[in-house]
Amino acid sequence: MSDLNILLEKIYEKTIAVAARNAHKIPYTTDENGRFDDMTEKNISWWTNGFWAGMLWQLYGYRENELLRKIAVEIEEKLDRNLMDAGGMDHDSGFKWLLTSGANLTLTGNPDSRNRLLLAADNLAGRFNLAGRYIRAWNDGGDGRNAGLAIIDCMMNLPLLYKASELTRDPRCRFIAEAHAHTAMEHFVRPDGSCEHIVVFDPETGKVADKLGGQGMGPGSAWTRGQAWGIYGFTLSYLHTKNREYLDTAGRIADFFIAHMPESGLIPVDFMQDAECPYEDDIAAACAACGLIELERATGEERYSEAAERLLTALLENRCDLALNKDNLLTHCSAAYHDKRHNFPIVYGDYFFTEALLKLERKETFLW
Ligand code: GLY
Repeated sequence: MSDLNILLEKIYEKTIAVAARNAHKIPYTTDENGRFDDMTEKNISWWTNGFWAGMLWQLYGYRENELLRKIAVEIEEKLDRNLMDAGGMDHDSGFKWLLTSGANLTLTGNPDSRNRLLLAADNLAGRFNLAGRYIRAWNDGGDGRNAGLAIIDCMMNLPLLYKASELTRDPRCRFIAEAHAHTAMEHFVRPDGSCEHIVVFDPETGKVADKLGGQGMGPGSAWTRGQAWGIYGFTLSYLHTKNREYLDTAGRIADFFIAHMPESGLIPVDFMQDAECPYEDDIAAACAACGLIELERATGEERYSEAAERLLTALLENRCDLALNKDNLLTHCSAAYHDKRHNFPIVYGDYFFTEALLKLERKETFLW
């Protein structure tokens, strides 16, 4: 991509301005004026609460700006309220604590961050169901109705377990991550390389009871963000274990993704949606780009980095707002196909977009 350094400088300058005027917020999206909302009081346990801090840490790693560090640390400390609430802890601890505590530990060596990361990892490991060899997804009110749910997104949370094992030199967490990854290879990845979003297990016997469309269009469809979680998630499991099966699986999912990319390079919410349907998901594009870049580094297959550049160029030329009076970067994200709202800013799109652009220059901090 041309002028990448200039673009990174613009994103860095914009992020400093946005961070300064939103100093005490944990954003998820923006309002009609392009200003961040704040999840601090709305829901401190919301699964995306680590991404803004993660983006600040990525740019701190790039230029060591003290303001970015201070704000990221404040978010990490706020998340202690979540860490002390069993009902708010779920499968998404990797997203929350790798991008806050893990980043702080990597970049500053803070011992409190190590402590938080290990507590979060132990909680995630405790969600492992021995019968089905899966990490349980969402909570329920204690009636057990969600006890059998596992989701492809969880592949992105496994690095929290790998990291805990690396820090403690105790393989228990890694064994759980590998067991879940094997279950995901067997039951989530279809013969054509596409992925399920939700697999329902019988939590007592471990047998597969159902497969659901989840945030995608429906059963058997291909929710694009789920495909992106699969590409990046299996690649990360390979990077932590060097097990080639994970790399091959990531490659199969990537090949499916590339084969279904529209000419425009802009990614729909579901690859099976009608061509006229306007729903897009920039997050899927940005996350897939991160995974594809890592996949190219691991395999040497240039088609993966070429696809990543196509995705990032399409975002940059059509879906990136660098205006200083708007808090977001990406404009066309969607949480789920069946939601009423589509094509709006969501903070983790900006996180993955920034990580991917930094990767192209080899200036990212490895936070997974
Ligand atoms: N992890 C939930 C989502 O991707 O929306």
